Amino acid sequence: MSFKKHERIEKNLTLMAVLVLITVSIGGLVEIVPLYLVKSTIEQVEGIRPYSPLEMRGRDIYIREGCYTCHSQQIRPFRDEVERYGHYSLAAESMFDHPFQWGSKRTGPDLARVGGKYSDDWHVAHLIDPRALVPESIMPPYAFLAERDLQTDDIVARIETNVAVGVPYTEEMVANAMADLLAQANPDADHDGLLTRYPGAAVTLLDGDPSRVTEMDALVAYLQILGRMVDFTNTAVEDLEAAR
Ligand code: HEC
Repeated sequence: MSFKKHERIEKNLTLMAVLVLITVSIGGLVEIVPLYLVKSTIEQVEGIRPYSPLEMRGRDIYIREGCYTCHSQQIRPFRDEVERYGHYSLAAESMFDHPFQWGSKRTGPDLARVGGKYSDDWHVAHLIDPRALVPESIMPPYAFLAERDLQTDDIVARIETNVAVGVPYTEEMVANAMADLLAQANPDADHDGLLTRYPGAAVTLLDGDPSRVTEMDALVAYLQILGRMVDFTNTAVEDLEAAR
């Protein structure tokens, strides 16, 4: 390659700008075009399902109360995080979150895998008065959630809004939305349909009062499913190695 020709490019600003543009465009096209050709950039992972109606409403309350200002929901693939919180977060685990709750602030611990870590009773007592369980806690109390009835009359509209942005709720899920919501908040109800549609949904005592559906029920149902849709039981050791 002759350097004489290259000198011509270096001395001609317009020619250089055009050639730079062409070079950068090729790089851009190579990176961007494939993204339009694949159906999804998120790897499918077994177990990921839409939130049950009660979990979804709990998530709404999590957002309304600004829990994300102190809690992240994203475990990074670093050893310290994986040892503390469990398997690092997968893209698929937040694929049905609109908007996602990854967060960027950890005044409190990451909550991506808090589901199943504590009992429902623990969550209720902790939300009512964090310092009763963790004396040094600076988390605010949310006792009022146990007093407030959950707004449920718009559940179908909320699910349909999720469908509109791509969450794969089936017609059956929409048709049973209200029944599933009530069943999940009542430990004595028949849970077969609910658990077939939403495996792993917490159907224990939640706020301990089956006679009404409170915002506390919804929030605890949501907290209890966090990080529990995918079964990671056999992956812990290899992933610790990989994360090193
Ligand atoms: C001002 C910051 C702040 C806000 C807002 C906040 N938290 Fe916390 N949270 C903390 C701190 C600090 C801790 C650790 C001490 C403790 O357990 O109370 C914590 C702990 C927790 C834990 C226990 C986590 C674990 O693994 O032990 C849960 C669950 C939790 N918070 C849920 C919530 C929910 C739900 C909301 C919203 C309704 C919320 N928090 C709002 C600061 C906050």
